[in-house]
Amino acid sequence: MDKYTDLIHQTFDFPTEEFTVENNELHFNGIPLMDIIKKYGTPLKLTYLPKISSQIQRAKRLFNEAIEKLDYNGTYTYCYCTKASHFSFVMEEALKNDIHIETSSGYDMQIVRALYKKGKINKNTYIVCNGFKRKRYRQWITELINEGFVNCMPILDHLGEIDYYKEHVNAKTKVGIRLASDEEPKFEFYTSRLGVRYNDVIDLYEQQIKPDNRFELKMLHYFINTGIKDTSYYWSELSRFVHKYAEVKKVCPELDTIDIGGGFPIKTSIQADYDYKYMTEEILRTIKRICNEEGVPEPNIFTEFGIFTVGESAANIYSILDEKLQNDKELWYMIDGSFITNLPDAWALNQRWPLLAINHWDKEYRKIQLGGMTCDSQDYYNSEMHSFQVFLPKIPKEEPLYIGFFHTGAYQEQLSGYGGIKHCLIPSPQHILVDRDEEGNLKTWQFAPEQSSEAMLRILGYEV
Ligand SMILES: Cc1ncc(COP(=O)(O)O)c(C=O)c1O
Repeated sequence: MDKYTDLIHQTFDFPTEEFTVENNELHFNGIPLMDIIKKYGTPLKLTYLPKISSQIQRAKRLFNEAIEKLDYNGTYTYCYCTKASHFSFVMEEALKNDIHIETSSGYDMQIVRALYKKGKINKNTYIVCNGFKRKRYRQWITELINEGFVNCMPILDHLGEIDYYKEHVNAKTKVGIRLASDEEPKFEFYTSRLGVRYNDVIDLYEQQIKPDNRFELKMLHYFINTGIKDTSYYWSELSRFVHKYAEVKKVCPELDTIDIGGGFPIKTSIQADYDYKYMTEEILRTIKRICNEEGVPEPNIFTEFGIFTVGESAANIYSILDEKLQNDKELWYMIDGSFITNLPDAWALNQRWPLLAINHWDKEYRKIQLGGMTCDSQDYYNSEMHSFQVFLPKIPKEEPLYIGFFHTGAYQEQLSGYGGIKHCLIPSPQHILVDRDEEGNLKTWQFAPEQSSEAMLRILGYEV
């Protein structure tokens, strides 16, 4: 008999640091998952908080060791990219590690306030304010700056953004400029819509920032959509960015920091295949080489890792409700959940995660497709990162089969709208209804106002 346990042991270097099996049942980071299932039932989402801290410590170690090894003349600052998961329990765990944050929406500023009120951050915490900003976001940034949050730093995303701060800020203000990266060659657009064009940066500094002594350009920022990958595209964008830093540094002495964005990956299969140490060293080596060539000091480095911070901390666990053989070959295992509503990246972006059976490792395995419970034909999952197929144990009579998707801690709740939250906390718009009366005249009324920051923060676990 071909047992599931043999399949996994033959395919991977198994067990791993995070996945082990005892009595044919899976443990995740030492957690006996069947005990959780027996206590709470399925479907369920599980977040293992200590993983968030260990990932942050790991990144800090990687960068600090590389700084030391390469004799790099700059510091490293870890920011957490809040949009990956804004939940209070995630933020509070992350903030135990002496870190800073990067934000992407006005409502984030209210999270900053809630965290400050609880003593989780202080007025020196860096708040790197990214994104294309509505007036409300600019206003709330300004209020924090005026109240003494000295490291609340708007990252200018377009040329007109600074006008608002000029009008309303009354304290010394650090600013950054986001540079618009070129997109990956196969993408539909040549240049990212986010950030300021490379050619406009010097003028923006010289005409808008330099003459106003309230403002200090401290940071250049960029983000590569594909993440930090060992590709010629990544290295050429990094080089271009560092050359720009050198050019700006020569006219702007107070500029001393670059933010290289997020993009450290997580494991999407059981086996690790990413060399974090090599990539970190290569990034620093590239920055150092270009700065030496250009004759400028090496910048301090900020990162804003989202997926890396929180992705590997979570799992989605389901029961297989039943099986359906729909023709001679296509055998479906129906889960008590949905990919579209629980793991929308699987449906929208063909995202893969480590998938493992939680029990019945001693049973025979077979090739199946996983079906979600919505009516949508796209609600399925049928290929793994390493094999383009899915294998799971046969379901015996005596006990249901449970399965887990692992490393699902980033973005899934925001994208699927858990409780009413949204990606980047961009709220639902107000909803206006229109009808006609008996004479045919239009009448309009508001069904619902725009979703408020209080409503979102409550869902995320903050006291408002
Ligand atoms: C500006 C910016 N910073 C950081 C991130 C986080 O990226 P990741 O979750 O891949 O680390 C994103 C993601 O879209 C981003 O747009």
